[in-house]
Amino acid sequence: ATLPLDLFAAIEDLKKELNAVILAHYYQDPDIQDIADFIGDSLQLARAAAQTNADVIVFAGVHFMAETAKILNPDKLVLLPDLDAGCSLADSCPPDQFAAFKAAHPDHLVISYINCSAEIKAMSDIICTSSNAVKIVEQIPEDQPIIFAPDRNLGRYVMQQTGRDMVLWQGSCIVHETFSERKIVELKTIHPEAEAIAHPECETSVLRHASYIGSTAALLNYCQTSPSQEFIVATEPGIIHQMQKLAPGKHFIPAPPENNCNCNECPFMRLNTLEKLYLAMKNRTPEITMSEDIRLAALKPMQRMLEMSV
Ligand code: 13P
Ligand code: SF4
Repeated sequence: ATLPLDLFAAIEDLKKELNAVILAHYYQDPDIQDIADFIGDSLQLARAAAQTNADVIVFAGVHFMAETAKILNPDKLVLLPDLDAGCSLADSCPPDQFAAFKAAHPDHLVISYINCSAEIKAMSDIICTSSNAVKIVEQIPEDQPIIFAPDRNLGRYVMQQTGRDMVLWQGSCIVHETFSERKIVELKTIHPEAEAIAHPECETSVLRHASYIGSTAALLNYCQTSPSQEFIVATEPGIIHQMQKLAPGKHFIPAPPENNCNCNECPFMRLNTLEKLYLAMKNRTPEITMSEDIRLAALKPMQRMLEMSV
């Protein structure tokens, strides 16, 4: 199919025609961020999905995020520009293995990071995101044992922050585990004034060099309010587009991976393109679907999260 010359204008027309809203994560290509109606971290995007009056949600992010929007909006059409936009962290927790893990730890409350499939959500008691994980764990009675899944790095960070012991599922994100401690230390000697900031999906060896740790939205907010003029950013570099927009004049250095590759970019997030977004809206596909049983079971822990993180 031939594409319109002005994709931005064509997408704007389709938005009106479909009564659609475009929700985008900070790791999307700058073009997609610029055409989105709302950009946010996982919690903000889940809230935006819960509140929208649109008939169609075009989710510019990865599969679990679009699935989350569908869990909250069974009657809306939820489109994902590329169905292969998965997540290594969500994939690191297969439902059958997790069911066995859960059965091996009876009496444990299951808190799952939102980066997981609807099947894992359906097996969980409470969902959390990187911006509310500490707050949610702090609300659980001391004597209640907890399973935390699927991210071991966020889990370890939450344990450190809350002083709680938790049983961790050993999953991780391929992007956040590529950052090199050695190269961050090197960068800090070259830029002694720069503050290192990091996402809690990074390993402890990287987090210990960060003066601030938080979700993508929290990192974006921090670099605007901090008096520092220079930052080493240890998360997917897509967020630097917003950092430069909201803190013009400040300098943002993407934290380097150990090898000279582009592997600090999330290969799944980057599967979405403006062209695919246009085609998804034009053809009303690919659509996110799931069984009503799974949806209802996954909705419960999502609602608990939204109630516990007001
Ligand atoms: P945030 O909720 O912090 O935006 O994180 C989402 C994510 O996928 C991080 O890799
Ligand atoms: Fe998943 Fe990591 Fe990509 Fe986030 S950056 S979507 S956790 S693979």
